[in-house]
Amino acid sequence: MSDHPWWQSAVVYQIYPRSFCDTNGDGIGDLEGIRKRLDHLVWLGVDAIWISPFFRSPMKDFGYDVSDYCDVDPLFGTLDDFDRLLAEAHSRGLRVLIDWVPNHTSDQHAWFQEARASRESAKRDWYVWRDGDASTPPNNWRAAFTNGPAWTWDEQTAQWYLHLFLSEQPDLNWQSPAVVAAMHDTLRFWLARGIDGFRMDVIHCIGKDPKLPDAPEAVAKIPYCAQNDHESTHDLLRGIRSVLDEFDGDRVMVGEVYLFDTARVARYYGNTAKGDELHLSFNFPPLYAAWDAGAWRAQIDRAVAEHDPIAAWPTWVLSNHDNKRHRTRYGSEARARAAAVLLLGLRGTPFLYAGEELGLEDAVVPEDRVVDPGGRDGCRAPIPWQPGEGRGWAEGDAWLPWPPNADRKSVAAQRDDPDAIVHLYRRLLAARRASPALQRGSFEWLATDDSALVWQRRLADDLRIVAVNFSGKEVEVETPGSHRIALSTHRDAEGSSFSGRLAPDQAVVLEPSA
Ligand code: GLC
Ligand code: CA
Repeated sequence: MSDHPWWQSAVVYQIYPRSFCDTNGDGIGDLEGIRKRLDHLVWLGVDAIWISPFFRSPMKDFGYDVSDYCDVDPLFGTLDDFDRLLAEAHSRGLRVLIDWVPNHTSDQHAWFQEARASRESAKRDWYVWRDGDASTPPNNWRAAFTNGPAWTWDEQTAQWYLHLFLSEQPDLNWQSPAVVAAMHDTLRFWLARGIDGFRMDVIHCIGKDPKLPDAPEAVAKIPYCAQNDHESTHDLLRGIRSVLDEFDGDRVMVGEVYLFDTARVARYYGNTAKGDELHLSFNFPPLYAAWDAGAWRAQIDRAVAEHDPIAAWPTWVLSNHDNKRHRTRYGSEARARAAAVLLLGLRGTPFLYAGEELGLEDAVVPEDRVVDPGGRDGCRAPIPWQPGEGRGWAEGDAWLPWPPNADRKSVAAQRDDPDAIVHLYRRLLAARRASPALQRGSFEWLATDDSALVWQRRLADDLRIVAVNFSGKEVEVETPGSHRIALSTHRDAEGSSFSGRLAPDQAVVLEPSA
């Protein structure tokens, strides 16, 4: 038995299922495509996968509009396909997290259909309805994507309903005990099938002020931020946590807490010594930090200062399905490589986004191929598995354009080239797995300036130093004692003793010389 929960030392790999691998020629990735590619993930060395939604959905928000929480959308396969995928992942030692979307359903969900049928419907209060006149929404909240009112007028029953996202994504009313019970059952459905946990979509939005008051205009105009982080969410989270606790085996919940105040994010871990809400919470401010030593130093300092050292284990993420990839944001592969060392060298659980190990850039999406209401198509480009026709996808056009240099960056092409970025990720993951200090050790700055950050990780007598050069110039850094380069963005430097000099954009992991 291990002395820590698996998710503290794990590296999680996010799969956006539409974009991973298609096996039936409809141009859309599917569960079978994930199953067939599990060996790549084992070779790479990640510990767990998180699969973005594959439930029944009209796909207005590409799966984040769920019409049945307890079934697989036929686009992605069947429940049997999921069970097979789960079993094969487990047999390879990979944990599986799935995405749970508790704030809203699809307007096509049977619950909403019933709620919307009449004001007297038994499920009317499963959603949030308000009286008013058809021209004045009940408050000034804005919806994500459209930036229009977060309310839609329902002609038939002459009331408004609330939706923080698209009008096809009506918000559930978590004040209703029946909603709480029904949503808890959706968790049990998947926990009983054997999944290892959930990523919880915009979890900080589920509790709302029952009065639904206007927000200050400055806040209201930021889509869906007017109503998040209400105190009642914390009680709801304790209830959700207790459902996970009914099951054995260290099931985990990681929440998307899309707040820009790390101290507020940290509160979602709960307030007892062990934490009684989320096990992990995404911390997004670093995802928006520039590639700059000072900006990153500030983000790391905040995470250290604002997370409870025992109850709140941090997380780190550079890319996901909602934002430009960091390879694109940071502007070069050299920086993306250094960023990989940074991400995997910090204290906390790292989340990788499929394709980041390939150094993929966002696709350039011509106007006539734009499909996402939120403009996020570029980072959702399909993963190229091999060079040439189809790129390892079943015959037929993929749902989005390929990312730039898809042949050269394909998995097969990179695996043949020991200098390729995919091999850096593989060596990094191996270096992390081999070092308790890197996985779970303490964090301490050794040296920082405008160009470079150097820190130390320690657990008992295991010690590693991470040094990252954020600049395009050679820099000198000070490290106490003498060290061997265990890992470097520049492969030819590995194994030699560290001189104190970092080449432009170089990042290294050092271990003490014997
Ligand atoms: C989260 C998801 C995003 C989705 C939204 C609404 O932010 O990551 O993809 O559109 O929630 O569910
Ligand atoms: Ca398919």
